[in-house]
Formats: sequence, C-alpha cells, structure tokens
Amino acid sequence: MEILLDTANIEQIKKYMQLYNITGVTTNPTIISREQEKDFWKLTTTIREIVGDKQLHVQVTSDNWEEMLEEAEAIQIRLGKDTYIKIPAVEQGICAMKHIKEDGGRVTATAIYTPQQAMLAASVGADYVAPYYNRMNNLNVDSKKAIGDIVNLFRQHNKHTKILGASFKNTQQIMDVLMVGGEAVTVSGDLLTTMVKNAVIDFAVDGFIKDWKSVYGDKKLYEL
Ligand code: G3P
Repeated sequence: MEILLDTANIEQIKKYMQLYNITGVTTNPTIISREQEKDFWKLTTTIREIVGDKQLHVQVTSDNWEEMLEEAEAIQIRLGKDTYIKIPAVEQGICAMKHIKEDGGRVTATAIYTPQQAMLAASVGADYVAPYYNRMNNLNVDSKKAIGDIVNLFRQHNKHTKILGASFKNTQQIMDVLMVGGEAVTVSGDLLTTMVKNAVIDFAVDGFIKDWKSVYGDKKLYEL
C-alpha cells in the first residue's frame, strides 16, 4: 500500500512527509503551474532534495515521442535517473514509454481513463498507471469497477505494472482504489487530514483527555 502526495507545494510536502509514511511525490504541469516559484528546475530540484531517495514523478509536456524523450532525459539528468517520467497514455506517449523502458528508465503512465490505455502502457513496461478516478466519474464511468478491471487484467497477464490511483475529490474514492487491489494512490494532503479528522473522532479523543485530567490534572504520564 503506497501513499504519494499529488502536489508541488513545498510546505505541504514537508508537512505531510513528516506526518505520514509517504512513498513519494507526483506532479504534473497543472500542479506545477499553481506554485509561486516559476523556475521549474528550482522547484523540482527542491522537491527532490526534500523527498531524497523516495519517489518523484515528473511529467513531460510535449506532444510527440521524440521531444518527450528529450524532456525525459533532461528530467533524469537534473533530478536523477530514478525519477519516474510521467507520460500521458496517448499514442505518442506509449511510444516514448517504450523507449524509456528500453533505456532502463522509470515510467508512470498518466491520464488513464480506460483499462485499454492501462493495458497498452503495461505492454511497454510502464512501472505505474495512473487512472483518474474523479474525472472518470465525471464521464459517468464506474471508476471503481474500471480500476478493478485493470487490477484483474494485470494479474491475469502477470504484469508487474502497479496502479497509482489519482484525481480524487473525496476519501471514499481513495479507499475504493485500495479496496479493489490498486497498489498506490496519489492524494492531496488535505484529503489525508480529512481521513482522520471529524467530530466523532474528536469527541472520542477529547473524552480520553477529559477523563485523564479529572484524575491527574495537567500532568503527563511521564511526569508521574
Ligand atoms: O495526478 C493527476 C491529478 O492531479 C489529476 O487530478 O484533480 O485535476 O482531476 P484532478
């Protein structure tokens, strides 16, 4: 079970890497464009420094495989050969994935809306496929079923490509991916907080503190 952070925000990355067991960070051009730091390499290098040897996924921006490969090479030189090159699972992207895998690089196939895209990405050896849960829902696709189909497809054909669920708007969607056998999810820090924060949980925890204080006052147990 892998949890990644879908953000390029330095403060969020620092905060949630300290709080949770985070496998890595995923970015895409939209996520990058939201940050104040407009120097792409400065931003991504800082993220690399923070994540250390954990995963970093960085997306290419070209629409043809030759330029995608040039971008992939630049990412590998600047951010490390072990950086996952995120590539949309379109025809040119699949071709670029094939070359990167032949060259020993790491690949995350992104913008996955259908099992057939996932199948083609896995056929060229992608390390991860990233199905877009909420965006699939918005197309009236049963995302949970479609991702379950991808899980079964990879199992039946002995593919080692992992599923990295993405595009989440609520915590149920995240759990759906993991419940049908997806190995990884990439999420906002806010949704992680939402998972463990609500009035009922707070009520239970406040009750423990209140009962402790009724006997021991403000003393901590290490002070007794
Ligand atoms: O990782 C892909 C993800 O960032 C897309 O999410 O919220 O734009 O659908 P969203």
